[in-house]
Amino acid sequence: MTNADKYRLLSDAAPDELENLSKRVNASPWRQHYHVQPPIGLLNDPNGFGYFNGQYHLFYQWHPFGPVHGMKYWYHVTSTDLVHWEDMGIGIEPGDEYDSHGAYSGSALAEDGKLYLFYTGNTRDKDWMRHPYQCLAVMDQDGNITKQETPIIDAPPPGYTAHFRDPKVWKAADRFYAVLGAQRLNKTGCVLIYKSDDMHIWSFMGELKTSFADFGYMWECPDYFELGEKGVLLFCPQGLLAEKDRFENIHQAGYLMGEPINPENPHFQHGNFMELDRGFDFYAAQTTLSPDGKRILIGWMGLPDTNYPTDMHGWAHCLTLPRELSIKDGILLQRPVKEVELLRKEKYTASHTVHNTKIQLAEINGSSYELFCELCMDGAAKAGISFRTGDTEETLLYYDAVSKYVVLDRTRSGAAMKNDNGSIRRYALDARKITLRLFVDQSSVEIFINDGEAVMTARIFPENDSNGVAFFTEGGNAKFDAVQWLYQ
Ligand code: FRU
Repeated sequence: MTNADKYRLLSDAAPDELENLSKRVNASPWRQHYHVQPPIGLLNDPNGFGYFNGQYHLFYQWHPFGPVHGMKYWYHVTSTDLVHWEDMGIGIEPGDEYDSHGAYSGSALAEDGKLYLFYTGNTRDKDWMRHPYQCLAVMDQDGNITKQETPIIDAPPPGYTAHFRDPKVWKAADRFYAVLGAQRLNKTGCVLIYKSDDMHIWSFMGELKTSFADFGYMWECPDYFELGEKGVLLFCPQGLLAEKDRFENIHQAGYLMGEPINPENPHFQHGNFMELDRGFDFYAAQTTLSPDGKRILIGWMGLPDTNYPTDMHGWAHCLTLPRELSIKDGILLQRPVKEVELLRKEKYTASHTVHNTKIQLAEINGSSYELFCELCMDGAAKAGISFRTGDTEETLLYYDAVSKYVVLDRTRSGAAMKNDNGSIRRYALDARKITLRLFVDQSSVEIFINDGEAVMTARIFPENDSNGVAFFTEGGNAKFDAVQWLYQ
């Protein structure tokens, strides 16, 4: 696709173009059953996640014309339970002076009976130079969204490049603050802070000072919140090199945890940068508060600059399940929200002690389910689960007691990803008993290890009838106690 094709508006669609695309998408065997996915085209970051007027509002970055990045809309879905989402259609339409090349990512804040939507207006001039604007749109009680005509921040501050985007706004002590992803002139990434008394007039306060002077070339999609006694900064640094079992994806999504910041003098005392997800496909996470004060996170189950097998069917990507955050022993725990249980249908159980073999389960199979398994190592060198198993395909999740890693292997999961970032991800863990909670959908798996101590997320693209589940061990025994709930 040429740039001219990618930066068209929906109103520029050729006759039948959208209908034909829709037919291709609906015939895709990898359409998800219980994850938010685009009707056609490409989904990326979750945006504008918030609770307002009795329901959750969630938007996502959407390019309608196919699985490519180009003109971005905000697509809108709503829910009362975080698991059943209603399609509300387009939320923010780009194409005006300050968002001529896309309504890029941003956040929502409910205030005064309205939902304020902050986003980055992406524009390109005739020389294809980027000029970002931070923009505001307001949703009323009836769900009508009106874009404000002029931007709230009309240029990056001096010292920073045009990579300046993704405002995340919060309120503290009757003031409004925003963090934005930015790039210094020396091509290193950082987060900038703005403040406002009224959400319309914003003043630049400086960088959110961290201990990272040179940690990737751009930080995208920041989010700052407080949880318990701690301050947490999420962001996505681009351009880090892989180190051993860390940073193996093309770009990273992670967090810093430390003392709550004083936004009037924002120095952040923090610990190490930790990845939010130890799997393959996770980026641009955003959080909000539930009405009862829970911090809920949703991520993009995909990555920039990566091709996926659904591209040939005219669509790409989905969002993760919502995860509730908490803190234990200095790490962020992530658990699927309790409401996922609303998706549970028939229940099956299986308990087996497995000795140096692989047993295909008669009791458990499927392509869209939750599987909880307690794995107890009893001498085995390796023990785990093979799922979405067919004649020539399987996805492996196992514990390697010798190297002491939980391993997720999608080498033989099905249609291959076209990238060279490897098909194995590892999470270091020294344990005899491990709990694994898998959420399998038509083309994905999210694995919660030890009640949210780590999560591994992956898109997988198996044949429709690769539905088997097996337990296996090598070099000794292990016991498996599993419960499955079908989700369709
Ligand atoms: C992250 C990102 C954001 C930007 C959006 C554009 O995936 O690059 O920084 O606002 O996607 O779609």
